[in-house]
Amino acid sequence: MVANSPPISQTPHREQQLSEVIGLLADGDYHSGQKIADKLGVSRAYVWKLVQQLQEYGLELESVSGKGYIWQSASILICDEKLALALSALNLSHDYYVITDSTNQRLKESFQNNHIVIAEYQTSGRGRRGRNWQSPIATNLYFSYGWKTDLPVQQLGGLSLVVGISLVEALEKMGFDNLELKWPNDIRYQQKKLAGILVELTGDADGGIEVIIGVGLNVNMQAEQTAIEQEWTSLAVLNGKPILRQGILLFMMQQLQSNLNKFEECGFSSFQKIWNEYDEVINSPVTIHQAKDDIHGLAKGVDLSGALLLEIEGKTQSIFAGDVSLRPVIKS
Ligand code: BTN
Repeated sequence: MVANSPPISQTPHREQQLSEVIGLLADGDYHSGQKIADKLGVSRAYVWKLVQQLQEYGLELESVSGKGYIWQSASILICDEKLALALSALNLSHDYYVITDSTNQRLKESFQNNHIVIAEYQTSGRGRRGRNWQSPIATNLYFSYGWKTDLPVQQLGGLSLVVGISLVEALEKMGFDNLELKWPNDIRYQQKKLAGILVELTGDADGGIEVIIGVGLNVNMQAEQTAIEQEWTSLAVLNGKPILRQGILLFMMQQLQSNLNKFEECGFSSFQKIWNEYDEVINSPVTIHQAKDDIHGLAKGVDLSGALLLEIEGKTQSIFAGDVSLRPVIKS
């Protein structure tokens, strides 16, 4: 989720050590500090520091004298083997990290088409407009999908909106109702943020564009787990009980693959009507925050390219996503 606190600095080596500790404790049994220290080739004091760090990330590790460390709720981790099997049915390869900096960053450094990078925790999760995406451990979905396309960059304007539509459609198939979209790419429920999307482009126009589609979906997050300024909700809050994350990922990827094929063939125009049906602010007054100034107007849905239509003093103008944000005007 979005917050303004700076990311925790972390080296890949330390991330690896933290992941190894989690890997050892993932059986839900006791492990002595000495045994963990021997496995990692470090001192017991250093193991204690790693455990403290994991506790700071939100992992409920216990230390019992004479027995060692235990993680009672270890079963909440995504099962990598089961995930691999399920994703292969969709022709998707994947990398699973317990801890990494940012799944978008992982894909950026080593892009693969039709590939997913998923993490239990991100030390530097990125949100739109340079913000940080808080990623409580083993709680929500944080993943990035690598997709290569021959579409020219000018036709990719509506892409992140298509991703938003795909998420909402997948969640509806799972039984979640009354979800809405806030331009350009927030998924919301009763004005509270449920998911965010960060699309980043790399590669060159001649050799095809490499698209990194980053998704952060609040699945099992509860109020006490995080302090976030923005109003948010999670699927578990809507559902009244925790939800397995793997299943949601598969529903989403299925819907996303099918919609991306349609987007490549027909462009955004075939999604315009669907977007406007889910649009939270259509026909409502909104404020667009830009780098320099704010614009006020009446939201009129999106045009055939996915740009926001804003009516100002009877004239309609198109607003492109870029570095702007939209706020509904709250009536007092
Ligand atoms: C937003 O600001 O609403 C977009 C948030 C996108 C967060 C996701 S989490 C997985 C992927 N990796 C990142 O670093 N960011 C995206």
